[in-house]
Formats: sequence, C-alpha cells, structure tokens
Amino acid sequence: MQTRPKQPLKLNLHDIHLWLAFPDEIQSPERLSTYQEMMTLEEQVQQQRFHFSKHRHQYLITRALVRTTLSRYANIEPHQWRFSKNAYGRPEIIPQAGVPPLRFNLSHTDGLIICGVVLKQDIGVDVENKERTGAMIEIADRFFSQQEVRDLYALPEKQRRNRFFDYWTLKESYIKARGMGLSLPLEQFSFLMSTNQALRITFDSRLQDDPDKWQFWLLKLTEHHQAAISLCRESQVDYQLKLMVYSG
Ligand SMILES: CC(C)(COP(=O)(O)OP(=O)(O)OC[C@H]1O[C@@H](n2cnc3c(N)ncnc32)[C@H](O)[C@@H]1OP(=O)(O)O)[C@@H](O)C(=O)NCCC(=O)NCCS
Repeated sequence: MQTRPKQPLKLNLHDIHLWLAFPDEIQSPERLSTYQEMMTLEEQVQQQRFHFSKHRHQYLITRALVRTTLSRYANIEPHQWRFSKNAYGRPEIIPQAGVPPLRFNLSHTDGLIICGVVLKQDIGVDVENKERTGAMIEIADRFFSQQEVRDLYALPEKQRRNRFFDYWTLKESYIKARGMGLSLPLEQFSFLMSTNQALRITFDSRLQDDPDKWQFWLLKLTEHHQAAISLCRESQVDYQLKLMVYSG
C-alpha cells in the first residue's frame, strides 16, 4: 500500500492546511495494519494502554494522520518522523536534513481528528463534539473571562450552547498555539465576538501578548463538530486556510 505521494504537496508561507480524519470510516484491515507498522515501539506501547478498542483505534488513526500527512510535504517516509515534546507536552518535529520547517497541531474528539499544518509559525487547533454532555455553565464560570461569561448569559438560552463551544474551542486553540496548555490562565484573555466585526482577542497585561499578531478561524466542520484555529502570524499578512479530508 502506497503511503506517500511521489511529488510533495506544496505549502506556501501563508497557507494553513487543516486535515480532517473520520476514524469511524477508516476500517480496512490492510490500511490499519499499514498504520500499525508506522508507529514507533513507544507509540505501540502507548496504544495498548487504552482499555477500550475505540480509543486504541482513535490513537492509531491519530498517529497515522500525523505521520502520513507530514510525509505529503517532504521526502520522508511516515515511519521516519521523530517527535519531541516541550515541558507542557506539545509535540514538535525533530528537524531532519532536507525537511521543510513544518509545524503542526492536533486535536481529537468523538468522531473526528484534525491536524493543522503550517510553515514555521505557532499554530493551535481544537475540535469538540457539541453532543458531549457536560456542565456548560460551570465550565464557563470557571474558565472563561468575565467578559465572555457576561456575553454568554446575555444571549437567548437557545444560542448559548453554540456560543459556549465557540469560546471553548477558541480558548483551547490559543493555549495550544502558545504550547503551554492549561498553565496559561484562561481568564487572562478574552475573545470578542460580534456579528458585524472580525473575531478579536484581548489580553490582560499579565499575559504580555499582542492581539495584532494573531489570526483566528471558527469552523463548523460537521453537524456536531465545532473547531477553532489560532495562528501566530509572522507579519500582519492574512493566512489562507484550506480544508483537506484525509483519505489515508
Ligand atoms: C492538553 C491540552 C493542550 C489539550 O487537551 P484536550 O483538549 O483534552 O485534547 P485535544 O484533543 O484538543 O489535543 C490533544 C493533542 O494536543 C497536543 N498537545 C498536547 N499538549 C499540548 C500543548 N501543551 N500545547 C499544544 N498542543 C498540545 C497533542 O498532540 C495531543 O494529542 P496526542 O496526545 O494524541 O499527541 C490542554 O489544553 C488541556 O488539558 N485541556 C483540557 C480541556 C479544558 O478543560 N479546557 C478548558 C475550557 S476552555
């Protein structure tokens, strides 16, 4: 089974490619065994730690998505990629000769895995399944900024769920782009969403970040899946987003 196209896919400096994999649709035994062989021993051990086969499958497709996707942009076989992690668990590609300066970020939820790929810049992606049940209001009160909470409560009740997931995915994508996970205080930055204005962020002075550096996207990927992307731009040039469905 071929896992890498002969011609590397072109990724321009101001492009983001967002790859979508639907794990429930990837079931061919031949394909799964190819994926299994792409993983390092450490990844295989990690996969076996999951108690439920659904989670082992999700893990396998995630690893395959990252490895085969990155191989589309470079002359490297999927099994040859090696990754390091920063102090907060963010994976990065260990540089190899002749490989472009690719950056990526991953997110998985029930029924969908996404992987954002870009050159050089910090990127964070988050996807959530809006069907998940959970204490929406408690989470907002605990993690959102005062302004976001006020905005949420001001909405008619039937619009709150969508707005909640807008904020949730945007906030997650931003902390993931910064690579610091939940050690970055979520109430110290605030997204401003207004129907007639572009999506904006404001920072508490303690966070020392500049709103002009950032570009954001909010995406309804399926009926149930909501995603967001945060990108720290090199300059104030707008990046172009392209969605790609992963087909192995
Ligand atoms: C770990 C965290 C970075 C993302 O967790 P998550 O939302 O549960 O999971 P996602 O599926 O979106 O992302 C996981 C992927 O992010 C990547 N990742 C891990 N640590 C990361 C970090 N510090 N920065 C960026 N990406 C990171 C990994 O690739 C990981 O997948 P992998 O383990 O399969 O390689 C962190 O933000 C977290 O724990 N969030 C909890 C959710 C929450 O309570 N949010 C508050 C409401 S806004």
